[in-house]
Formats: sequence, C-alpha cells, structure tokens
Amino acid sequence: MFGRKKEKTTLDAQQVSLVEHAQMRIAQKRGFHTHLLISLFLIFFALVLDFAFDYKTDFRPFNTHWSFILGTLLLLLLLTHFLKVYLFHSFMGKAWRETQLEFLLEKQALQVEKLKRAMDKEAALKASAEWQRENRKQNITMIAAAAENNALGKDNQLIWHLSKDLQHFKQLTKGHHVIMGRKTFESMPKALPNRTNVVITRQNDYRAEDAIVVHSLEAAIALAQSDDRPFIIGGGEIYRQGLDYADCIELTRVHDDFEADTFFPEIDPAHWQEVWRENHDKDENHEHPFSFIRYKKIHA
Ligand SMILES: NC(=O)c1ccc[n+]([C@@H]2O[C@H](COP(=O)([O-])OP(=O)(O)OC[C@H]3O[C@@H](n4cnc5c(N)ncnc54)[C@H](OP(=O)(O)O)[C@@H]3O)[C@@H](O)[C@H]2O)c1
Repeated sequence: MFGRKKEKTTLDAQQVSLVEHAQMRIAQKRGFHTHLLISLFLIFFALVLDFAFDYKTDFRPFNTHWSFILGTLLLLLLLTHFLKVYLFHSFMGKAWRETQLEFLLEKQALQVEKLKRAMDKEAALKASAEWQRENRKQNITMIAAAAENNALGKDNQLIWHLSKDLQHFKQLTKGHHVIMGRKTFESMPKALPNRTNVVITRQNDYRAEDAIVVHSLEAAIALAQSDDRPFIIGGGEIYRQGLDYADCIELTRVHDDFEADTFFPEIDPAHWQEVWRENHDKDENHEHPFSFIRYKKIHA
C-alpha cells in the first residue's frame, strides 16, 4: 500500500515538473516572438524615417545609412535571443542541466566521503596515540644539562665541558633510543654509538647517517615503543615539546649563568617533583659546580 502511494507521489512530481517545463518553454518562445515583432517594426520604422523622409541623412558614422546600423544591432540581439531559445536550449536544456547537477552532486558526495574518511583516520590515529600515552609502559625521559638561567647551547654547540656529565649521559642512555631534533644531530660529529639515534625534522627528504629520520615527536616515540626508557636528548625546541610526553627529567644543573641562544623550558614545580639529587663541586676537571637532579612528573 505504501509502495503504491510512493509511486503515485513520484508520478505526480514528474508530471508537475513536465508541466512546469512546458510552461517555461512556451514563455520563452512567446518572448522571442514578441522580440521578433518589435525588432521588425523598429527596423521598418527606421528605414522609413531614413529613406522616405530623409531624416538626418548626413548622420553616417560608419559611412552608411544609420538605419542600417540600427537594423544590424537589432538583428544581432534577435539572433542571440534565437540561439538562446532554440539552439542552446537543446544543448544546455533541462536534460543537460540535470546531468550536470547529477555529476556535480556525485563529485561533491565523493569529496565529502573522502573528507570523512580522512577525518575518521585522523580520529583513529589520535585515539590510538592517546591510548598509547595512557597505557604505555614506557618511561620517557628527557635528559639535559642546563645552566641556572636554563642556557643549553650557543651557535649550535654546547657551552661547557663536564666529563662527569658526559659519563652520566652515556651510562643512562646506553642501549636506548635517543630522540633529538635535526639541529642537535647536526651539532654532533656523528650518530651516538650503541644507541638507536632518532632524528626529527620537517624536511621530507632529510637523510641522516646511522640514524632513523622521523617527522614528529609522536612518530619518534611510537618508533621507540619497544624501548622501556627512550630518551629525548634535545635541543631546546624538542625539549619544549617533550615536556608533554616525558615522565622523567634527568637534569644536570650547572650552577652558573651563561650567554646562550637555546634554553631549557622552565620546570614547573606544580607538575614536576624532584626525587633525587647528587651535588658536585668544581674541581680541576670541572670548571663549574653542578648537580644531577631527577624529576618525576606528578600525574593528576
Ligand atoms: N645542554 C644540553 O643538554 C643540550 C642537549 C641537546 C642540544 N643542545 C643544544 O641545543 C641547540 C639545538 O637546539 P635547537 O632548539 O636549536 O634545535 P633542535 O631542537 O635540536 O632541533 C630543531 C629542529 O628539529 C626539527 N623539529 C622540531 N620540532 C619538530 C616537529 N614537531 N616536527 C618535525 N620536526 C621538528 C626541525 O628540523 P628541520 O628544521 O630540519 O625541519 C627543527 O629545526 C644546540 O646549541 C645544541 O648544542 C644542548
């Protein structure tokens, strides 16, 4: 019963559309016939004025009778109208418009579908990243040496040489993933041995000898999934982003102020708790006093 009702509705809609189309065509043709009659009358009237009454016969801008010019313009307009009503209507008529509309709608639907798929993919990736962040067993650690004024480096170089700090770094990071920004990687003579070097860059074609190249910190962390303690080793730009991901900071605080162009971010005591510290005085091998400090993230 409902099927028949639906069929009838479709039929009615089709009939209404046909009647509307027929009415539109009649109006178009009537318009053209009116245009034709007015044009013929005007041309006839102009010719009579121009020839019979010799009205302004000296007005010949194109070296011919003005009635001829007016007649040509009117005929051109008439021809355009004729083409619109009789020729282009069959080329670009209702059927053509409907095909175009269908084509455009299909194209739009495809684009919407594509966009939806991209959004779904992004949402899935986000969910998976969040899931990984919440469920991972990793202890992501940022390791850095920063001065009292948070200075890290200058002209893409370290500012001090503290051999105990280097040993401390080597001992902690050995066998682990070391994640670093492209600039830090380039500040070193070569990739760090006995570690998986991961270099982050936005350059698609970047190659780094003995290192894996990725294009985001998230990708670097995902790559180090199997490592229970991957290290983020700098520099300033990567440390700033790393604060959100890190669970631990192994900081060597150098007790002096230095001129620098790269700085470690502020450690907010509301989010980070100092859990261990080892102080070292300056001596013949160490120009500056320093402390090894471990911070743990305070998880809400
Ligand atoms: N004292 C320390 O413990 C310590 C440790 C490490 C480094 N440093 C010092 O720090 C300085 C270097 O630090 P820096 O801040 O200038 O540079 P950086 O953090 O080492 O590297 C920055 C580069 O990393 C890439 N990058 C950053 N964020 C990215 C993202 N979200 N996605 C993709 N790529 C990204 C970009 O590479 P592209 O430009 O190639 O796209 C960017 O130019 C040097 O002076 C170094 O000696 C000090």
